[in-house]
Amino acid sequence: MSKIISGFSKLTKEEKIKWLAANYFNNQPEIINTIKQYWNVDEKLQQLHDDFIENTISNFYMPYGVAPNFIINGKEYVIPMVVEESSVVAAASLVAKFWSSRGGFKAEVISTQKIGQVHFMYEGDKTELTQYFESKKNDLLSATTSITRNMEKRGGGILDVELVDKTDKLANYYQLHVTFETVDSMGANFINSCLEAMAKEFRNDEIEVVMSILSNYVPECLVRAEVSCKVEEMGGEYPQKFAKKFCQAIQIAEIEPYRAVTHNKGIMNGIDAVVLATGNDFRAIEAGVHAYAAKSGTYKSLTHCEVKDGIFRFWIEIPLALGTVGGLTSLHPMAKLSLDMLQKPSARELMMIMATAGLAQNFAALRALTTKGIQHGHMKMHLMNILNQLGANESEKKEIATYFDGKTVSHSAVVEKYNKIKK
Ligand code: MEV
Repeated sequence: MSKIISGFSKLTKEEKIKWLAANYFNNQPEIINTIKQYWNVDEKLQQLHDDFIENTISNFYMPYGVAPNFIINGKEYVIPMVVEESSVVAAASLVAKFWSSRGGFKAEVISTQKIGQVHFMYEGDKTELTQYFESKKNDLLSATTSITRNMEKRGGGILDVELVDKTDKLANYYQLHVTFETVDSMGANFINSCLEAMAKEFRNDEIEVVMSILSNYVPECLVRAEVSCKVEEMGGEYPQKFAKKFCQAIQIAEIEPYRAVTHNKGIMNGIDAVVLATGNDFRAIEAGVHAYAAKSGTYKSLTHCEVKDGIFRFWIEIPLALGTVGGLTSLHPMAKLSLDMLQKPSARELMMIMATAGLAQNFAALRALTTKGIQHGHMKMHLMNILNQLGANESEKKEIATYFDGKTVSHSAVVEKYNKIKK
């Protein structure tokens, strides 16, 4: 029997769960229990979360961790991270501590412009269109005044409107290409409202507006973070060799897309965790970052490295369109807590914090990959997970961890060792 349903959204939460259980879980009672187990006991708080989206039936927990010891431009931070992958927070904390005794992270915002476009079709004469655009330019801006008033008070607004001819790529296709400054808000609603108002003002019998929407490609909303120290301060037995290998790993990610994607994924382990913790839009960030990584036509590393005159320098340049006001940042109590923990940063400061988190994560990954290998740390975690499952106590854990130091961890080997100790 078909499970297609009309009016699902109108059902109560209880009814939705019942329908789900009946149609997709054979009415197993434990399904309903699992779903309800994650409801918040505070009904008001639950209602707040229910109202973020549609058809909410429960909450989905993610671990919320913190990475202390970050120093960015001389200021100390503890960075909140929401992530399900083990080792990410530990890596961030370790690297933060490492660089805290080597001058910390230096970061700077390069630019903060965002883009929106009105995409339209026009079959007529291009000169006439250009003249029409010039004659309409002021009206386009006037059409947005009620929307831009508040933003302008905060130092933002529309910076520029251009007519762009794209007919060489698609017949009759033009754009109004609009540049925005949205200060501390991500500005998606603001940008889209301005664009729709402009489109309404611009359209005529010959201009067919296809759509009006912001772009998540933000190469002009760019931040840079870096660390540097003398090569001999890099630690380990052979700091020269380490620095060289580290830079080689980056060079590989600069020319080899298969590696670059994984390299950048590791960077995003750090960035996405802070994006989530602060209630920002991780899909927008991801889309923008990867498009930027591919801007040359080849997908490349977002981080760079050099060793010059005995100095190791490692940096990231990354586009991040963020908000510290509006949206979920003020609605979600944990997002608000994260921003308070970060000492109420401006969007510019948050850009620097996130770029730093990404750089730190990449440093941790490359340090592990070019020295002990990535499985060493992962295996330690794996070992602890197995021992926790087996119910080992602290002294058993310690003994077994010592035994497996330098050995390959497999489930069966751990169980065997555990049973031996138990006997
Ligand atoms: C795993 O989540 C991330 C890494 O694969 C990143 C990298 O290879 O650089 C370790």
